Amino acid sequence: MLEIKYDEKQQLFMLSNGSISYILGIEKNRYLRHAYFGKYIKSYNGSNAPLFYDRGFCSNPVESDRTFSLDTLLAEYPDFNQGDFRNPAYIIQTKDGKRVSRFYYSGFSIIDGKEKLAGLPSVYAENTDEAKTLRIVLKDTIVQASIYLYYTILAKYDVVCRHAEIVNQGEADIYIDRLMSFSLDFAGCDYDVMTLSGAHLNEKNINRRALCSDSIVMESIRGTSSPQATPFVALMEKDANEDRGNVWAANFIYSGDFQASVQVGQYKTTRMQIGMNSTTFGWHLSSGEKFVSPESVLVYSDKGLNGMSQIFHGLYRHQLCRGKYKEALRPVLLNSWEAYQFDVDEAKCLNLARQAKELGIELFVLDDGWFKNRCTDTQGLGDWLEDREKFPHGLKSLAEKLNNEGIAFGIWFEPEMVSAGSELYRNHPDWIIRSQNYKPILSRYQYVLDLSNPQVCQYVIDRLSDILHSVNVSYVKWDMNRHLTDLGSAYLDDKQQKELSHRYVLGLYYIMETLTQNFPNVLFESCSSGGGRYDAGMLHYMPQTWASDNTDAVCRLKIQYGTSMLFPPITMGSHVSIVPNHQVGRITSLNMRFAVAMAGNLGYELDLNKLDEAEKAEIKRQISWYKNIREITQKGTFYRMESPFERNTVSWCFVSEDETKIVCCYYQILAEPIYTNPVLKLKGLKENALYRLNGQDKIFSGSELMYAGLTVPKIEGDFYSEIYILQRI
Ligand code: DGJ
Repeated sequence: MLEIKYDEKQQLFMLSNGSISYILGIEKNRYLRHAYFGKYIKSYNGSNAPLFYDRGFCSNPVESDRTFSLDTLLAEYPDFNQGDFRNPAYIIQTKDGKRVSRFYYSGFSIIDGKEKLAGLPSVYAENTDEAKTLRIVLKDTIVQASIYLYYTILAKYDVVCRHAEIVNQGEADIYIDRLMSFSLDFAGCDYDVMTLSGAHLNEKNINRRALCSDSIVMESIRGTSSPQATPFVALMEKDANEDRGNVWAANFIYSGDFQASVQVGQYKTTRMQIGMNSTTFGWHLSSGEKFVSPESVLVYSDKGLNGMSQIFHGLYRHQLCRGKYKEALRPVLLNSWEAYQFDVDEAKCLNLARQAKELGIELFVLDDGWFKNRCTDTQGLGDWLEDREKFPHGLKSLAEKLNNEGIAFGIWFEPEMVSAGSELYRNHPDWIIRSQNYKPILSRYQYVLDLSNPQVCQYVIDRLSDILHSVNVSYVKWDMNRHLTDLGSAYLDDKQQKELSHRYVLGLYYIMETLTQNFPNVLFESCSSGGGRYDAGMLHYMPQTWASDNTDAVCRLKIQYGTSMLFPPITMGSHVSIVPNHQVGRITSLNMRFAVAMAGNLGYELDLNKLDEAEKAEIKRQISWYKNIREITQKGTFYRMESPFERNTVSWCFVSEDETKIVCCYYQILAEPIYTNPVLKLKGLKENALYRLNGQDKIFSGSELMYAGLTVPKIEGDFYSEIYILQRI
């Protein structure tokens, strides 16, 4: 049912997959007009065509027609300086310093399948029947440049992927001042807007509020997508909730600075955009050159936020993540960071890993502190030489010992950084991001390498490859612990300095592409002081992300709930740690900590020597139980049920791929003085199917469990959790 049709009479393009339709048209033979994005429409005959009439203060780009103005049109990719005074999708500056252009529609082509975006992460289609792409050409004959707009509709997911390319076809340089990867207009503004914001230790908080007459902007100029912002925005009808109602969402497949905005126009239209952030982005395009914007994923769901998230989850698991671990089950790991921080050595690692193996853990991860001069965070980054005092027999021998005992070995790097005391910095002081005019600003005592410089990228690839070739590494944690300041590059020429932020990200993507292709058996996990760069761009290279440095089970409920808006649980690194918790000092039960961590990608991050025998036995039971159900939590469909942003009780469930098994998690944060007889209304079951609960004899129908619900036991005490397992019979 995948089709892209051009109706010549109506001058309309109609993209559909049998479930959704996206329709755009050509107006006055020149301008692109947005007509529709939503539930599938079988045939479209212009029923919602715009009304044109003379309105005050409106520019009229077609002289003979005073009723036509770009300021009132639902646009598809709005220009600047032609009378649409809402946010433009692009601004191009010509050699004379002017920023006036007239890009007009000039043709289209339809491509079976989906092309890759050179040097950038993107959604992919392995076969041509999985996607169809419409390419629209806009041309400005004075500027002598073309803009190509790409729209890909997918067979399996209710998604349209969009991005833009600019080609300079003239002799003179042009300068790209602004370039959104998409722009989407809606008639009316009676919507709520959802964004995800946060901070280090407090990532992906959900914000939902009504759209008024102003703009909502979510952005980052930190050099990464950041823990503070998420390159995502959703427009929701007022009555939309987790399970019902219309939602239109956009997510940017990019890991650097961005701007996402929702803007209400004077005639109550709503404009949604995401693209690179013009505060830190600009690009010189010489004659014959092409610039490709990162891609955005537009999702439409008529099944509320759960419907939206399930589309993102399915798409990202199957058509964004790549490599061996796209399908493989993820191992249970033990990470050394919260146990020993920088104070690691061979004896401690062997001791910890051997105990971990006894408990059923499959992978031991040596976090920060293993390399030369790394006893604190003040030094050591950049040289990546083994510390032979801490590891006298070397990492190769450590990995071999662990492998012989049946546990895999993983290691931490922070490849994008350098400490001032390193050999690297002594030899190449010009390899960091800085302006020559000022002393560069430190953050965590470190500088950021200038990844716009290909030599620097090659250095990073070589250093990591040395270790990965010589040591049997099964897993790499790729950390990034500061944001970019002093945007200046000794490698780029004067006129390219504003290109640095984007070139940094392109350099990073090049490094990650090279390493992940060269080491296909390594499981890569990205991290930026937790979820500081937990974005779709990183997931294209690294199929899991450390969701937060905050390992407190109660805080994690919100972080994981918010993260699940976009990203599937299998991508969410989530560990059981010690109590009192290192970040907030809270004491929660081992049971609660496990019940929260197993709802992501389970790991442990604590000093097992500090546990008593009963606790170790409990962990052993947890892991063995988890191994039986991880296929469901890692690959199943995830449903949010009760939100920690609204309630004291939180719940979610996972339905196995074959829809026969359900894992349902229920958490009560604080004890209540009165017992209100709570019932848990399950989701994702088949109404008429029968389910056995927790392996007992009791059998319930799907409709009973979803509509009447399941009574939760009377709970005393804070931080309580319960996990239900249902088997369809
Ligand atoms: C920040 C990460 O988020 C932590 O898990 C840990 O790896 C430290 N960096 C190490 O420096």
